[in-house]
Amino acid sequence: MEIVYNGHSVVLIKTAKANLVIDPFITGNGLAKWSVDDLPKIDAILLTHGHNDHVGDTETIAKRDNALVIGIAELATYFGWKGIRTHGMSIGGGYDFDFGRVKMTQAFHGSSYSEDENKRIVYAGMPAGLLLYIEGKTIYHAGDTALFSDMKLIGEQNDIDIAFLPIGDNFTMGPDDAFLAAEWLKAKTVIPIHYNTFPFIRQDARAFAARLNGKGKYLAPAASRSNCKAAKQRAANLSD
Ligand code: NI
Ligand code: MN
Repeated sequence: MEIVYNGHSVVLIKTAKANLVIDPFITGNGLAKWSVDDLPKIDAILLTHGHNDHVGDTETIAKRDNALVIGIAELATYFGWKGIRTHGMSIGGGYDFDFGRVKMTQAFHGSSYSEDENKRIVYAGMPAGLLLYIEGKTIYHAGDTALFSDMKLIGEQNDIDIAFLPIGDNFTMGPDDAFLAAEWLKAKTVIPIHYNTFPFIRQDARAFAARLNGKGKYLAPAASRSNCKAAKQRAANLSD
């Protein structure tokens, strides 16, 4: 399995069976080092919630690759009406897909999609976090969330290999709360996300990672657009 971070909350996961992308906010993401065109063929798009900085290029990628959009039921319905293949879920529920199991966890945040052109906010159900069980590894992507004490339970129920935790503050946990989250989750590796994309969420991710006693990894967005193929080969391989 190969896991590549592309700034904000964008995570590309290449498995033996499928290419997955979580929260593909790539166009307009100033930290993205590769564009939608650089993405391999995507089999499934996993969405934590409906905010535009997470939905991002979902429609473009889904239509290009006939990818399955996996998200909270209301958000899945919204994309289904656009002629996209969807699989709706809800918090606490899990499902065995061809590539592995996905379980949705709670997240304390909002969830809506802003249709900027219509000045309309579309309700998108509850926000979620994602637990992925793929090729014997357990990955937790917290989505956008505040700290919540049931992260202890998630840590007790799961042997988490990699946790992607927001540290940006303002809209989500800041570094101090994310540090506590990391302790409760007992993840072997923690990767900070959702920082530095916008002025309100500037943080020192290296300092956060360093504070985690070797468990935290600062994962820079991989690849540059001009050197994409080589960089993809160099992309962070976290399979061990
Ligand atoms: Ni959000
Ligand atoms: Mn966000």
